[in-house]
Amino acid sequence: MSRNKPKTKVRTAKGRKNSSTRWLKRQLNDPYVAEAEKHGYRGRAAFKLKEMDEKLGLLKSGMTVIDLGAAPGGWCQVAAKKKCKIIALDLLEIEPLPEVDFIQMDFMEDAAPDKLKEMLEEGNLVDVVLSDMAPNTIGHKQTDHLRIMAVVEAAYYFAIEVLKPEGAFVAKVFQGGAQDTLLKDMKNNFKTIKHIKPPASRKESAEQYLVAQGFKG
Ligand SMILES: C[S@@+](CC[C@H](N)C(=O)[O-])C[C@H]1O[C@@H](n2cnc3c(N)ncnc32)[C@H](O)[C@@H]1O
Repeated sequence: MSRNKPKTKVRTAKGRKNSSTRWLKRQLNDPYVAEAEKHGYRGRAAFKLKEMDEKLGLLKSGMTVIDLGAAPGGWCQVAAKKKCKIIALDLLEIEPLPEVDFIQMDFMEDAAPDKLKEMLEEGNLVDVVLSDMAPNTIGHKQTDHLRIMAVVEAAYYFAIEVLKPEGAFVAKVFQGGAQDTLLKDMKNNFKTIKHIKPPASRKESAEQYLVAQGFKG
């Protein structure tokens, strides 16, 4: 993707905070934002999954995909373009998409895994579990790290209950990647584990993705 477009300057308007001006400037100069608009994606995040899929071959026609932390629906749109069946969950509502069976709920609620399993056709297992969930940060480094890891772990233990043999699990993690004990467990359950930062993930962001493929079942 070309990053050489002339930059749009944004003046600080009266009443607009500097942080908002920075956000606006970044949006206007971000080639992924323009590209998302062009292709009808709901956000630039769509490109992160698209790039990981292009690199690692995650999504194939007819697959069943569970998308955790799906709002506003960019990853769902990418999976739908690949003709996957999608079950999605988020704390926030999403605009309906025809290929997506959506539930609005907190994944950390005890009932969430069973609700998702009920949405699967009887006895069906899943090809790919995606998690782009990130809890809101509070600015206390250790607490934030623990909260993020709790979400990743919950998504992982759910994934290994519902995945088909050879299935894949993708989860957003932050600096430092997954914790050793979790990685060790993952290595026992999957043939390959990678930490990747797709080009669409902003350089200044500590986010990266953990991609586990070849579930041993
Ligand atoms: C970065 S956004 C996801 C973007 C999405 N992949 C896309 O392409 O449109 C992260 C989402 O995770 C959701 N989230 C965070 N914690 C969650 C939780 N415990 N349960 C459900 N959703 C959660 C947030 O509401 C937010 O919509």
